[in-house]
Amino acid sequence: MTITTPAVPLVEKAARAPKSELHIHIEGSLEPELIFALAQRNNVKLAYDSIESLRRAYAFTDLQSFLDIYYAGASVLLTEQDFYDMTMAYCERALADNVVHTEIFFDPQTHTERGVPVATAVAGIDRALADAEQRGLTSKLILCFLRHLSEADALATFEAALPLFESYPRMIGVGLDSSERGHPPSKFGRVFEKARAKGLKLVAHAGEEGPPSYIYEALDLLKVDRVDHGVRSIEDAALVTRLADTRVALTVCPLSNLKLCVFDDMTKHTLKDLLDAGVAVTVNSDDPAYFGGYVNENYTAIIDALKLNDQEVYTILRNGFEASFVSPAERDALIAKLDAYWSGTTR
Ligand code: HPA
Ligand code: ZN
Repeated sequence: MTITTPAVPLVEKAARAPKSELHIHIEGSLEPELIFALAQRNNVKLAYDSIESLRRAYAFTDLQSFLDIYYAGASVLLTEQDFYDMTMAYCERALADNVVHTEIFFDPQTHTERGVPVATAVAGIDRALADAEQRGLTSKLILCFLRHLSEADALATFEAALPLFESYPRMIGVGLDSSERGHPPSKFGRVFEKARAKGLKLVAHAGEEGPPSYIYEALDLLKVDRVDHGVRSIEDAALVTRLADTRVALTVCPLSNLKLCVFDDMTKHTLKDLLDAGVAVTVNSDDPAYFGGYVNENYTAIIDALKLNDQEVYTILRNGFEASFVSPAERDALIAKLDAYWSGTTR
């Protein structure tokens, strides 16, 4: 399409653009204030005595140092209303960032191991998503397996959740998250095969901290539709070519990568190299309450650091709709909305 000279600075144009978010862990949207409010409501004892001391602990050195705090934060979630409140708080932030479609991850095993049934989590999350849909934010829900636990545990979680995939049309897929190193995708081949047989969408975190071989495993053994993160693909030229040729999208999370020390400086981020190579990269927030920003702050950070131009930002926004798990008609409508905005028609 023809791109006109931006009338507003590019970061602002991107902030106001209709956009998707395809990589957001709903438990990672729990702000410290809400963690403390829910802890009080549910009589849960936290290891931190104030909001400030919890926030001070958000100085991560790698993925595991973050996950330890992330699971502690999620321990305050007990009731359906807790999951509703958490999800609605995220939806408010997403709407403020002009997100029109979001695909949300949740971690049932984090809750079932504390005695909270998966049905309770899904009911609260889905009720908030239904309410947000009335306000212009459509959504999907993706159940993630914790890869530091066994495949038997993932299989049991999947079996227990099967009726929910029937009852909640928004729940359309499975994913794989948590500690990557030492837990390759191949560990979960059978549970992904079962999910695939049910017609579910498949995604997996791979190549965040783990090597390119984990991305190959996600593609070849799990047969994923998208790769979450995938930034280490840049180390393998054949893999980059394959991702570009197949248009299997990467859900990249710039502030997460910076906070978890995947890159020591945002100017070293490989997003632009991947984009230049034709890979379908998207921009997302991952765990916005922990990494210092929601989706628009991720766009701002990466546009500034990598000096992205108008066409590149448009491509990333468009990729975010092309890679979403909506119907072809819905995808076309989302892209038309973006095009009208980007060309200035609806600005
Ligand atoms: N990586 C792996 N697991 C996670 C993440 C992440 O960035 N966030 C929440 N769980
Ligand atoms: Zn993630």
